Amino acid sequence: MTAIEAQQRIKKLKAEIEIHRYNYHVLDRETISPAALDSLKNELFKLENEFPQFITPDSPTQRVGGRALSRFKKVVHSAPMISLFDAFSAEDLQAWQERNRNYLDSIGQNHFLSSSDNFPYYCELKLDGLAINLRYEQGQLVQGATRGNGRIGEDVTANVKTINSIPLKLRLPQLGELEKLGLSSLVSRKILKIISHGTIELRGEAIMTKKVLRELNQKYTRLGQAKLANPRNAVAGSIRQLDPKITAERRLVFYAYDLLLSALDSKELLARGELVVRRDQADHLANLLGFKTLKQNRIVSGLSGVFQFYQEVEKKRASLGFEIDGIVLKFNDLKMWIILGVVGKAPRYMMAYKFSAEQATTKVLDVIWQVGRTGALTPTAVLEPVKVGGAVISRSTLHNFDEINRLGLRLGDTIIIERAGDVIPKVVQVLKKLRTGREQKIKVPSVCPMCGGQVLRLPDRVAYRCSNQRCYAVNLQQIIHFVSQNAANLEGLGPKLIEQFLTQGLIKEAADLYALQKSVLLSLERYGEKKADNIIAMINSRRKIAVANFIYALGIRQVGQEMANLLTEKFREYLVAKKKDLELKNLSLEHNWPIEIKTLINYFQNLKLEDLETISGSGPIIADSIRNYWHDEKHLQQLHKFQDNGVELFLPPANVFRVQNSRLLDKTFVLTGTLNGLTRRAAKDKIKTLGGQIKEQITRNTDYLVLGEKPGSKYQEAQKLGVKILNEEEFLKIIS
Ligand code: IVH
Repeated sequence: MTAIEAQQRIKKLKAEIEIHRYNYHVLDRETISPAALDSLKNELFKLENEFPQFITPDSPTQRVGGRALSRFKKVVHSAPMISLFDAFSAEDLQAWQERNRNYLDSIGQNHFLSSSDNFPYYCELKLDGLAINLRYEQGQLVQGATRGNGRIGEDVTANVKTINSIPLKLRLPQLGELEKLGLSSLVSRKILKIISHGTIELRGEAIMTKKVLRELNQKYTRLGQAKLANPRNAVAGSIRQLDPKITAERRLVFYAYDLLLSALDSKELLARGELVVRRDQADHLANLLGFKTLKQNRIVSGLSGVFQFYQEVEKKRASLGFEIDGIVLKFNDLKMWIILGVVGKAPRYMMAYKFSAEQATTKVLDVIWQVGRTGALTPTAVLEPVKVGGAVISRSTLHNFDEINRLGLRLGDTIIIERAGDVIPKVVQVLKKLRTGREQKIKVPSVCPMCGGQVLRLPDRVAYRCSNQRCYAVNLQQIIHFVSQNAANLEGLGPKLIEQFLTQGLIKEAADLYALQKSVLLSLERYGEKKADNIIAMINSRRKIAVANFIYALGIRQVGQEMANLLTEKFREYLVAKKKDLELKNLSLEHNWPIEIKTLINYFQNLKLEDLETISGSGPIIADSIRNYWHDEKHLQQLHKFQDNGVELFLPPANVFRVQNSRLLDKTFVLTGTLNGLTRRAAKDKIKTLGGQIKEQITRNTDYLVLGEKPGSKYQEAQKLGVKILNEEEFLKIIS
């Protein structure tokens, strides 16, 4: 075959394969058998091998062509990928409509108000996957990116190319097809020009079907590998793979939900009605360009139409092949998008109307009591395993005994468990009518399940505590806390190792860690030279601890990171007041100051209760707890032991948070639990740079509780006081 013949054959093969790809992956229509299609692809592959000069980036053979990367490049989005406001009830939507009416009125667009009950909305399914931005230049796919923080995402082009429902080259619609959408011939020609010569961006959701998830999980189980928790995690994990071959294996599907026609003057054109002017047109146009769009999407009239759509979708939800978590309603008239604009983190012109949290029923088999580092006993319900919102749940925290009473829970009860988004599951209701009479009352243990010490409840306190100062569990949890990342940061000393050190008598308390000898470590089972050396070297490298981290590490009741920071700043003020001493020691404000543990003890012992109370947000309970700590003989011995074992404290230069943006000015945040995407320190810094404040305690005046995994009792307090609770995703949206 001559080169020219090969070039022509390659062109025809590509076009033929593309038609069948489109029919199969976009239109769900099989127009050729898979075997025949494979055979066409094979021929193309062989020809391209022979004539590599004719390989183009949009060839179907290039879908899994990318090599594994070592990391993703960052991509700045041409327009920010903003998020959506959520509604959970009809009232929420009515309030949203009212806000829009008021807004339109306030900007002098009151001619819309008379028709506001019948606004045409475009209702779409809200897919539960990962948002992706695709950029096409001159019709060719040039970039695929994740949302990231909305402004900057990650370049995942090689991975999105493996998704069969994403065209590598845009389909060029026929003029007639565009005119059928109600576009004038002038507008249609303009669009064709943009497709061929301009830039088009499509946004949409990459999803994994329920079937693929099931099959993959069956395979992983066979191979003894970890299963994918739910479709959303599965998609995120699949797209953020450095090796595109793994993404390809995950068989993701892409649905488009937004189309950005980047004509330079697109806003003006839209305003004059000389471009796509309706959301339904844009949706169909995406389809004509070669994308999958949702066939369930449709125009409705007013909120009553929205409610009807929502109910229909809710009924069909279980039978859909993919997961959805609600619907999205959008003003169908795109002019309204410009008029209404964006407020804060999301547009006024669309809204997510989410399904309520997923629920399931199961039985409470047992209640176990865990002892935390403050000695507080936390009840956890052991459940008959049940699937809720894609995850199997077999435990649920009950927070405290008051919660058990509030629910009226007994052992053996059938309960409703609920999981809202990523929030940890909770028991929401006991189905008392299903009782058999054999259910048993739940009692607080009178002795600690770990050490047998007496369990007490202080007056006016919620928690029951083990009163044994030497409780094994309390001690263990305290040491685990001491070594943690934001405390002494003894990296690699996990709970298992610490438990081993404790049970083998190598340590009694955290300070003993700094006196560990290699020879003693070698006496433990499975400890070789290397492991022992590594541990000793790590501990030696962490002997210098910042004062705030040290105070936090001590695990003083009521003193979290934020309070530790405040106490440290007070301590700094005290040192600065004694400036003379500093000058004598030749220390400057820009450098770390070495601090003797003795000095710290001295300082705290001389603080008056009133001084402690004036520290922001601190009441008598906290002040008392701090004061008692520094006067307790056992604690003082421990503190001296740190010094004896070579721990050195230092005070870094003051960290002045400059407010870069006053978006969160005067908003108060409380954090609880572990965040996945960023450290607590980073989260707090970000809040502060946006002008917000961080508090340790929930009060009626708290604006937000940021809820991480395994939250503490603050979660419950926030619910009780009606404080707005943000999960990690929502929090990230606010700060991004
Ligand atoms: S429109 C302004 N339409 O939901 C943001 N989003 O909770 C434009 N999503 O990040 C989004 N289905 O990833 C839109 N039909 C749909 C959607 C949809 C799912 C996702 C999207 C977004 C998230 C917000």
